Amino acid sequence: MSDGDIDPDALTEVLAGLSLPQKTLSPKFFYDAHGSALFEEIMRLPEYYPTRTELGILRQHGPEIGRAIGPDAVIVEFGAGNVEKIRLLLDVLEQPRAFVPIDISGDHLNEAAAALDAAYPGLTVLPVTGDFTKPLALPEHPVLQGARLTGFFPGSTIGNFLPDEAEAFLATARAVLRGGDLLIGVDLVKDERVLHAAYNDAAGVTAAFNLNMLTHLNRLVRADFDPDRFEHRAFYNAELGRIEMHLVSTLGQIVQVDGQVFAFTAGETIHTECSHKYTLAGFAAMSAKAGWRTARTWCDAKSWFSLHLLTPA
Ligand code: AVJ
Repeated sequence: MSDGDIDPDALTEVLAGLSLPQKTLSPKFFYDAHGSALFEEIMRLPEYYPTRTELGILRQHGPEIGRAIGPDAVIVEFGAGNVEKIRLLLDVLEQPRAFVPIDISGDHLNEAAAALDAAYPGLTVLPVTGDFTKPLALPEHPVLQGARLTGFFPGSTIGNFLPDEAEAFLATARAVLRGGDLLIGVDLVKDERVLHAAYNDAAGVTAAFNLNMLTHLNRLVRADFDPDRFEHRAFYNAELGRIEMHLVSTLGQIVQVDGQVFAFTAGETIHTECSHKYTLAGFAAMSAKAGWRTARTWCDAKSWFSLHLLTPA
């Protein structure tokens, strides 16, 4: 996008979100280049347990996970995530045939694809640029003809979806995988203090990540947010089983987005993210509603995080 151009779809979405009684912006707007770098930093924070814990499960139970998936796997990853996770998975598989990462950001995708292509000579890497929350066609490459597919959706990214959206995603994934299994990482309900700390780190990286959305939108949709006039807030909503992140307006103010005016009262918030936490039974019940049976689950010793191998019911 050339300087000065704005993204029309993003603009429509931002205007709609800021017009709601509870102002809301999608967490996808966290991820400009700086936001992605901040998220990398979050994943290394001492308080942010999910990444470390999921990697631990993959390491500890890798051989068993590899056997459960079986030989000649074709792995379809929803979102080109953390390269370390896919490597751990590929390393335990017997002769993985292909890796198909699906991501909306072409740059991120091609970087991840190139790294793996070089590291796994026998593996065909077929990146797909697209929105994995919608039904989409996989490439017509011979290696995929009639192949048994296995989905991979780590990181508890599913936690960003509202329960209805999560169920819809699981149903869409079932169609995309055409009879194949899905290995999915799901963060679990736990002591509220642990959850709270993970989204309120002492170094303030999560705060910077949340506030960076405003700087990103200033460019993306020609807004004039002053990040110094907003504050990070994250808390566990026990009733809804989710962490909520908000940006709190510290004073009465007016913000313009592409010429449209939005008024904020002091203390008013923009809801920027939900991160749902599940119980094993709760997640299995939701998967069942989307047509999946839970074949296996693996957890860490504290039961803080889980990996589920789902198979079509
Ligand atoms: C990428 C959605 C899994 O919810 O934990 C981390 C994003 N937000 N810290 C999460 C996030 C604030 C993360 N997910």
